[in-house]
Amino acid sequence: MSSQPMDPERHEHLQRAARDNLWMHFTRMSSYQDHDVPVIVKGEGAYIYDAQGRRYLDGLAGLFVSQLGHGRTELAEAAAKQAAELAFFPLWSYAHPSAIELSERIAGYAPGDLNRVFFTTGGGEAVESAWKLAKNYFKLTGRPLKHKVISRAIAYHGTTQGALSITGLPPLKQMFEPLVPSTFRVPNTNFYRASEFGSPHYHDESERGVPRGAGGPAGASLEAFGRWAADQIAVAIENEGPDTVAAVFLEPVQNAGGCFPPPPGYFQRVREICDEYDVLLVSDEVICAFGRLGHMFGAERYGYQPDIITFAKGVTSGYSPLGGMIATDRLMEPFLHGPETFLHGYTFGGHPVSSAVALANLDVFEREGINQHVLDNEGAFRATLERLLDLPIVGDVRGDGYFYGIELVKDKATKETFDENESERLLRGFLSKALFENGLYCRADDRGDPVIQLSPPLICDQSHFDEIEEILRKVLTEAASLL
Ligand SMILES: Cc1ncc(COP(=O)(O)O)c(C=O)c1O
Repeated sequence: MSSQPMDPERHEHLQRAARDNLWMHFTRMSSYQDHDVPVIVKGEGAYIYDAQGRRYLDGLAGLFVSQLGHGRTELAEAAAKQAAELAFFPLWSYAHPSAIELSERIAGYAPGDLNRVFFTTGGGEAVESAWKLAKNYFKLTGRPLKHKVISRAIAYHGTTQGALSITGLPPLKQMFEPLVPSTFRVPNTNFYRASEFGSPHYHDESERGVPRGAGGPAGASLEAFGRWAADQIAVAIENEGPDTVAAVFLEPVQNAGGCFPPPPGYFQRVREICDEYDVLLVSDEVICAFGRLGHMFGAERYGYQPDIITFAKGVTSGYSPLGGMIATDRLMEPFLHGPETFLHGYTFGGHPVSSAVALANLDVFEREGINQHVLDNEGAFRATLERLLDLPIVGDVRGDGYFYGIELVKDKATKETFDENESERLLRGFLSKALFENGLYCRADDRGDPVIQLSPPLICDQSHFDEIEEILRKVLTEAASLL
């Protein structure tokens, strides 16, 4: 299916201007010297259309954003109405109805006493805000040395200097060093690639010899691995000195590296450790909140109570930018007395138009039962993607909800992965382009081991899953033959 191609003159003008003036994000600009920049002009449901009128399934919801899919006039109208009524006013000592109502709504969804919503314009700012709040809170409550942050290897938490410092991807950081000091990495929950994690870390001898899951070292259960991975946080806190550690930043399902869900019991153990050392648990839900895992928040799905949740992306389904953090009453308490003030803010944080759009977005979530739709269909999505495991190049399919990573391997039996050159040729040279040419927009990523990431709009159903599988099967089969 296709739509009307763009007028050729306009198309040519856009191509020239894109090359001459537009600096695209995380983009190797040289690759567009001899190729057209893909220009997306329209979206409808789960599909997007380019300037030539070609249609693509939006397998990544833009960038883990478009929960409700494209072309929802109701959200566009909410934006227009708010812009006409009050286009802008800051939340600096003043408020406006849409931000107030949205804070109440979000606090109502958030688990426990996560009642205090601080708005930003996106995810990186939400992460910055959470770290600053953690530092400020401990300074006000008599533990001024607590300032360090622990996060996981390969995890992505944003690009501003604090958030980048928390990010666990050295290649993304090198050009910007020195970053904000005082962040430390612990292992993530990649069971497929977990090497032997050693007997001292088994807390219960009965866990030995439990049959292993799909991946993992021989003799290790997923639960034991999760316990070990969580305990590494305690080890890091001890190594750094508990008096100096303020927070642990973790995604419910880690995105970078290709969707690592938490092993059973992982977050429960992390919560225990955080309580023991008085360290704040920050659930970075910039991707995982608002339906991606079939719940408003990932913490609900895995049954843990964070001290702070960071969110962005899906809160508006991308119809306007917005992010924020939700803090517990305990964390706001010191700021409720006398002159104490959280000296932090963003001009556009909680923008009236974005807040109104978020309210309209959440109305649709309720009315159409979006979370239930994800829960009802996630099994079918998984089963459809798992059909690809018959291909020699597909090593692992992992994730939850509408959020999956497919790890590609050179040798399935040994799990041998690709070297840098092969990865470059496979992912950049062939896969990304071939998937797009075959009608699937998704992400081929090598920030960890090479994976294809899928995170489609939450309205997708079996017909979309089949289409995704069909295109992946064709392209991955061809990729394997090129190796
Ligand atoms: C877990 C997580 N945190 C933070 C961010 C940064 O968000 P933003 O790009 O809106 O600054 C992202 C972006 O993808 C993310 O996935």
